[in-house]
Amino acid sequence: MASKKIIAVAGATGAQGGGLVRAILEDPSGGFAVRALTRDAKSEKAQALAKKGVEVVSANVDDAESMKKAFAGAHGAFCVTFFWDHMSPEKELAQAKGMAQAAKAAGLKHAVWSTLEDTRKRVPLTDNRMPTLMGKYKVPHFDAKGEADKFFAEAGVPTTYLLTSFYWDNLIAFGMGPKKGPDGKLGFTLPMADKRLAGIAAEDIGRCAYGIFKKGPELAGKRIGISGEAVSGAQMAAALSKALGKEVVYNAVTPEQYRKFGFPGADDLGNMFQYYAEFEKEFCAARDPAVARGLNPKLQNFSQWLNANKDRIPLA
Ligand SMILES: NC(=O)c1ccc[n+]([C@@H]2O[C@H](COP(=O)([O-])OP(=O)(O)OC[C@H]3O[C@@H](n4cnc5c(N)ncnc54)[C@H](OP(=O)(O)O)[C@@H]3O)[C@@H](O)[C@H]2O)c1
Repeated sequence: MASKKIIAVAGATGAQGGGLVRAILEDPSGGFAVRALTRDAKSEKAQALAKKGVEVVSANVDDAESMKKAFAGAHGAFCVTFFWDHMSPEKELAQAKGMAQAAKAAGLKHAVWSTLEDTRKRVPLTDNRMPTLMGKYKVPHFDAKGEADKFFAEAGVPTTYLLTSFYWDNLIAFGMGPKKGPDGKLGFTLPMADKRLAGIAAEDIGRCAYGIFKKGPELAGKRIGISGEAVSGAQMAAALSKALGKEVVYNAVTPEQYRKFGFPGADDLGNMFQYYAEFEKEFCAARDPAVARGLNPKLQNFSQWLNANKDRIPLA
């Protein structure tokens, strides 16, 4: 263990960090060891990691001092923030800044920052095609991550900027799966007309991050976008129909309708899908599945993910 390079993983009990933890554990001769960061080392998920021999360390991304301690002595760190836990871009910015400073203080050789585009570079606040949200954002959970890239650069931390994609797992846990309409038919709703959505299995994000750590600090300073496949709403509905053995129709609402769905964050997601659709070419080009497969040979496409996960999609 002593000679292995330690990767401190934020969100180790969650989707992205969990995928990275599993990728490192599955490759015992890869030269890396995991340090799993959690707010509660006694939780069931943290204990399950400890039982697998993982070093589990208490830390909170809201507490930069705890992150400094958690990163100390590590070779690298996987840095991710948790927007949907608080829905505050300001908080997300502060968390990213704290992690960048902790990475600097620990003298890390390589950080991977899980980020997204600052959509305001293409849709400035003066552009009324979509509403400005929370005073100064178009897609708050994208913009804060993109804006936070500067903290890693300014701190001089050797950082790879990992541009993630829409998790297909949102069909399971985020309420985005097919739903029965008034006609009794299952409908899959997406406000993207015939445009393609670059998506990925959340598990594959962590696996790609592992590929980046394996390639090493030569990838520092690079922006690497990943996806498993880009599929349109109609293609997703067709794949769902096939996998579930029940007809699923594509319910192509407008971004305006989506923003008015009323659930917390509907306006943020409506703007996000509008951005995906209107910048389909650029968004998908920045996330070539071939690049992701080069980092993670187990990368899944939508049908593969669906076949493995169809029974977990709630259809109520
Ligand atoms: N859903 C999507 O399609 C999508 C796509 C791209 C990017 N994203 C972004 O992904 C991010 C979330 O990543 P994820 O999905 O991997 O998260 P996740 O599955 O919700 O996991 C979050 C984990 O992080 C830990 N955590 C939460 N708050 C923390 C804090 N203050 N300090 C330290 N640890 C904390 C929790 O573990 P403990 O309880 O053990 O501390 C939890 O298990 C969001 O910012 C979101 O915008 C989402």
